[in-house]
Amino acid sequence: MSGYLSGDTRKVTTHRLVEMKQRGEKISMLTAYDYTTAQIVDGAGVDVILVGDSASNVMAGNVTTLPITLDQMIYHGKSVVRGVKRALVVVDLPFGTYQTSAYEAVTNAIQVMKITHADALKLEGGEEVIDAVKKIIAAGIPIMGHLGLMPQSINKYGTYTVRAKGEEEAEKLVRDAHLLEEAGCFAIVLEKIPAVLAQRVARELTIPVIGIGAGGYVDGQVLVVSDMLGMTHGFSPRFLRRYADLHTVMTGAIGQYVEDVKKGDFPNENEQY
Ligand code: KIV
Repeated sequence: MSGYLSGDTRKVTTHRLVEMKQRGEKISMLTAYDYTTAQIVDGAGVDVILVGDSASNVMAGNVTTLPITLDQMIYHGKSVVRGVKRALVVVDLPFGTYQTSAYEAVTNAIQVMKITHADALKLEGGEEVIDAVKKIIAAGIPIMGHLGLMPQSINKYGTYTVRAKGEEEAEKLVRDAHLLEEAGCFAIVLEKIPAVLAQRVARELTIPVIGIGAGGYVDGQVLVVSDMLGMTHGFSPRFLRRYADLHTVMTGAIGQYVEDVKKGDFPNENEQY
């Protein structure tokens, strides 16, 4: 057992994540979008909690991450921060809030940090957004990069298949990873790329590399909490390990409640005043 479960209740910082990489300790990361889930995820010992823009899909039922707004991310971020004692909380900057100019990016980043009290922010892209990354970091805000499959660019790709299988895209990804490290990012997420490429990036960088669908040779793993708990159905990529089947558990419990109410079984004598 590690982290919270072994009694190490010290707050996780960006500095401690780099130390974890240096001593070969894997980093665990999960998403959360609300206070109650964040309390559970934090209490179970997860090192990093990502308030991902996947909230757009998971919480709001959108097909992509593109529609979620800055205000909605701030709402989710604030709710999660209230539920967390130990984990590092990272909030995604949503689509359209950092691509237009470095000035816009740093203004929006400051707003998220001021209102949510999160520890850090994440954004997608390499060279194209490097000025924004540098400006945000210069303002004192830690940034986690995100390369490989970048869901905010889904309309450009037209598919959610594995990225960087070809040499040209792979070499650009490696260059972008170095640029992000040189710009001062404290960690990078690599999504859905070949394991050997992710391994190369993790070896070449001194900052932690966290994978999702990027194999086991990186410094840590991230999953979407509702996917790994089996709450979502109809999404079964190869990289997703389901640790529970909450869809079945919740449907069963709610079905039982409906039956009890219909039968007049709930509430009973002890459940009333
Ligand atoms: O928004 C999100 O959940 C993410 C993870 C998939 C890394 O960016």
